[in-house]
Amino acid sequence: MKEKQKELLIQKACQVREKAHAPYSQFKVGAVLEGKSGNLYMGVNVESSSYGLSVCAERNAIARAVSEGETSFKRIVVASHGGVSPCGACRQVLWDICGDIEVIMVDETGKVVRQMKTSDLFPVAFDKEKLAHE
Ligand code: THU
Repeated sequence: MKEKQKELLIQKACQVREKAHAPYSQFKVGAVLEGKSGNLYMGVNVESSSYGLSVCAERNAIARAVSEGETSFKRIVVASHGGVSPCGACRQVLWDICGDIEVIMVDETGKVVRQMKTSDLFPVAFDKEKLAHE
């Protein structure tokens, strides 16, 4: 049952990846974030002609979830060619918003390349706990 849900998330991440707007890098990424409510939030990378304004699939999925009122999370599946791992900026935001969830990285065929917790991807994190004023 649990594995079936994981397969569904993987399938959806591969499907949504096709919608990525990546005319500059040609590198399409799709993400599916599962909330504790059971709702799923999709994101793709959206690139800009001013390259630095491009936003990754993971952060777009997180923004969508937050916009819908989801506050706790189970896992995220990230689909890309070769099953890459989230960039540094996304690791920070994943840690800040989603906490220590499973991050499942799959390739374009849906094969799991790697699965890690956020805390393993982003050790010794900076976060709100360290913001205590001097
Ligand atoms: N990208 C993502 O969307 N997620 C990742 O995990 C890695 C990189 C995007 C950013 C950019 O649009 C393209 O992939 C190439 O870096």
